[in-house]
Amino acid sequence: MYNDLANTIRSKIDIVDIIGERIPLTARGKNFFCVCPFHDDSNPSMSVSREKQIYTCFSCHATGNVFTFLMNYEHIDFKETLKYLGEKVGIDTGNVHIAKKSNKYDKLYEAYKLSLKYFQNNLNSNIGKVAKKYLLERKIDDKLIKEFEIGLSLDKRDDLTKLLTSKEYDLVTLNRIGLATDNYDIYNDRIMFPLYDVSGRVVGFSGRIYKDSGKNKYLNTKETEIFKKGEILYHYHIAREECRIHKSVIVMEGFMDVIRASSIEIRNTVALMGTALTKEQVNLLKRLSNNIILCLDGDDPGQHATLNIGNMLFDMGVEVKVVVLPNPDDPDSFILKNGRDRFVGLLDSAINFSDYKMQRLRENVDFRSDEEKANYINKVLEETAKLNDIIRREVVLKRLAKEFDIGYNTLEMRINSLVKDEDKQEEVFIPKRTVEKKDKYSKAFEQIIYLMLNNDWVITQVERERLIFPSEVMRTINSEIIYYYKKYGNINVADFYTYVQDKENILIFLNKVLAGNYNETTNKEELFLYFKVVREYCLTQEIKRLTGLMKKEIDPLEQAKIAEKIRRLRLGDN
Ligand code: UTP
Ligand code: MN
Repeated sequence: MYNDLANTIRSKIDIVDIIGERIPLTARGKNFFCVCPFHDDSNPSMSVSREKQIYTCFSCHATGNVFTFLMNYEHIDFKETLKYLGEKVGIDTGNVHIAKKSNKYDKLYEAYKLSLKYFQNNLNSNIGKVAKKYLLERKIDDKLIKEFEIGLSLDKRDDLTKLLTSKEYDLVTLNRIGLATDNYDIYNDRIMFPLYDVSGRVVGFSGRIYKDSGKNKYLNTKETEIFKKGEILYHYHIAREECRIHKSVIVMEGFMDVIRASSIEIRNTVALMGTALTKEQVNLLKRLSNNIILCLDGDDPGQHATLNIGNMLFDMGVEVKVVVLPNPDDPDSFILKNGRDRFVGLLDSAINFSDYKMQRLRENVDFRSDEEKANYINKVLEETAKLNDIIRREVVLKRLAKEFDIGYNTLEMRINSLVKDEDKQEEVFIPKRTVEKKDKYSKAFEQIIYLMLNNDWVITQVERERLIFPSEVMRTINSEIIYYYKKYGNINVADFYTYVQDKENILIFLNKVLAGNYNETTNKEELFLYFKVVREYCLTQEIKRLTGLMKKEIDPLEQAKIAEKIRRLRLGDN
């Protein structure tokens, strides 16, 4: 269904743009490369071909066209993808009907939506006056209140619980999803900041005290089915577009910082919300941009977190940039005190994480002590050895040599002993092709299929030669290619993908073929060699089958007949 529409839309879309909007791409040769979002990785193992309009991961073998990419990346179905892309290129998709998907969590999201509205109403009514005053004093004005959907929970103990139970929510559910405790509201008299999941749905709250109540500053929703703290970053759904435009993501500690930055029109930001970074969150960050700027609080815990997170990302192959705020400022207070220009100035002067580390190594070193000095130099060398960039290494060594009047060669010798052999590889990453070992037959079959997908004349040859493939899936893909070719008059891989998208066995095979590093073009002579291999395989299979049959046969006459057949097959006379 919708094949023609899909092909029209696809022809107007460049897969490089669509993927590039979501993951940073690097051009190399004819193709673009990026970190594959479909498996855990820090190497750019996915290639995107503008020419073919497909992507291929050399590592996990995920391949497909723009539709499969979006379906898998955004977790949407084919029709939703059609609509999304149709709108992008201005093609009417009015006749594509999407059945409203029901999600088992719909009711929970709904409860959070209702609560959000309820909290917002409170803040905007008379009852919210004191809280409003607190916010305005903190320079959170009505515009920001609206933008970040800030609300207020009341000091009434069971107001929200009553509201929700009157709407078919039972107490057990409300307790489970973190909106009630027993018969009571969880949040009492707090300014309510909604927390969003990566698609921008409200899935939790953080409630802040605004009077001297001696209670915890923030009260956060507990982990629930829809609120997994380790899988969200505050502001992610907004940052996604903003980071693409600004080609960087700024990581802050608290949502107050993000809100403040937004007030000065900086929105390529996310907040960690105090938690240590999980692997999922790192993956989210990497999706936003490969230019990650850490801008945590200027106090000790903030700097400690900067080191931890920077190290964690460094080990995963990403070197972040660091902005150091004066202690004890956080972005919120810094911006309030100094304004936009100075904050932007700080962002522009962000330093590489390794340099940040070197700076921190200097702290508290008594350079009058030879021992401390040597110790410092050694530590710097250790850090420098981790750098994958020989130029940067040289810069550091020269600086050290000059500053401490040590021979450059001495430093170089020391660092070379620290650089592990495995790190000495060339700098350009070459995707390791982790193609499973295949026998020559499988290779030949897959090669022929790949050639068919790229050369119309090969399809004609395969048909003319009546080549028979040995397995069911190969035969199916072969006949689908021929059918497709006859119907559309030509073939391209990207559209063929759409065509076979719901035939799982074909897709799996197709993925293998596309990730297999096969030749794209050939000549007749070579093609016939591949044909020969296929025939040879079929022949051996047939001989095997007959031999088995012969062994089981008890009638000597029949046995002789089969033996004769085998003999003739071996002679190539059939
Ligand atoms: P901060 O203490 O830096 O908050 O904690 P903040 O952004 O400066 O807030 P204000 O300015 O005091 O209002 C950073 C983040 O840590 C989490 C929150 O998510 C906060 O945004 N946090 C902090 C808690 O969850 N509970 C707390 O008691 C404190
Ligand atoms: Mn803070």
